[in-house]
Amino acid sequence: MLVNLWYVAEWSKNVKDKPVKTKMLGQNFVLFRDSNGVAKCLSDVCLHRGGSLGNGFIGTNKKDCVACPYHGWEFSGEGMVEYIPSLGEKGVIPSKARVDSYPVEERYGMIWVFMGDLEKSKRYPIPPFPEFDDPKWKAVTCEFTWDASAERVVENGIDLAHASFVHPGFGYPETAHLNKIASVDRHEWWATQTSITYPPLLKGGPLNLRRLLRKDKQETRVHNTFYMSGFTIRLEIEINSRMTTLLLDANTPVDEHTTKSYLIQLRNFFKWDMFDKDTIRRTMQVFQQDADIIEAASPYYLPETLENEMSVKQDRFMSVWREMRRKHIEKGWQIDVEQMKKISKHKVLNIPSPARRENPDKYMIETVPLVAGVQPVRLVLDDQDVA
Ligand code: FES
Ligand SMILES: [Fe+2]
Repeated sequence: MLVNLWYVAEWSKNVKDKPVKTKMLGQNFVLFRDSNGVAKCLSDVCLHRGGSLGNGFIGTNKKDCVACPYHGWEFSGEGMVEYIPSLGEKGVIPSKARVDSYPVEERYGMIWVFMGDLEKSKRYPIPPFPEFDDPKWKAVTCEFTWDASAERVVENGIDLAHASFVHPGFGYPETAHLNKIASVDRHEWWATQTSITYPPLLKGGPLNLRRLLRKDKQETRVHNTFYMSGFTIRLEIEINSRMTTLLLDANTPVDEHTTKSYLIQLRNFFKWDMFDKDTIRRTMQVFQQDADIIEAASPYYLPETLENEMSVKQDRFMSVWREMRRKHIEKGWQIDVEQMKKISKHKVLNIPSPARRENPDKYMIETVPLVAGVQPVRLVLDDQDVA
């Protein structure tokens, strides 16, 4: 699990007038809105006696605060204790009475939280999704929770070759050899590939839509992008010259073995509401087909190198993902999960926040251990390297 990235913490519509508890990177957080409706995110653990702020309430004494359910301490959106009921109105608040507060942005109906202490200018942006507000597109949303690590979920989402076997709606084994990667374009925090696939024309479906959309075994172009921000995948499927479907899913590591995917799907055809339900049903079916495979894959976590695994040409984009992830581990952004679990039994740990970087002495709760000193490994194979 990597720090210093944006992750989706919740759908915007789910955070209203009460605190909402959410878990990311193995830690709990509280989301709430101030009186202007601006979303805030704090570490969930109260530094008094460990109460869970997410189970608390909106502050009654101080404006724009969340209150701990245990003894009623009130915390501002910046994580500062503003009021301690047992000390009364005139009570002096200790200077270390604060918890980590994280940058929040609302985009695409999602609450994005920056999980780390990098200064603003060094953070990768939230992935672009310009089509989201464009009336040309019809949107549906859904979510899926995986018993799998986020790294595995992302790798599966950008894997070209599995569709022929795992998703009968997108491919079939007889045409597996025809699917190919047309191009790969790599950047510091994202990469994109275009591939050519030959999905089948299945019988049935609502009103037999597939027959209206395209011919059997018609070439379909798929543009697949991953972003380090949010462990996000964008999938653009050009069904034909007029019909495209676009998916954006942010894959939040809830903990090292659980991932929550927040998905927005857009289509520029059949935009009537009557088609929404079936679109969601089919998307969930696809997620479940993937989950059946990756929840049973070994080893449980994504391997750190390509040792003990064989790669072929069609796996190239997955190697790009693994290498980019690996580069961020080498930067020292990887949480030392084993160590974190050991310490967490007796001690609360927080993901470091930007304000803590400026004032480290003002925080009582320690930060999660990170893996240091990781040596560089080359993971992207040239075409001549692959079998
Ligand atoms: S534990 Fe939060 S106020 Fe006491
Ligand atoms: Fe899949």
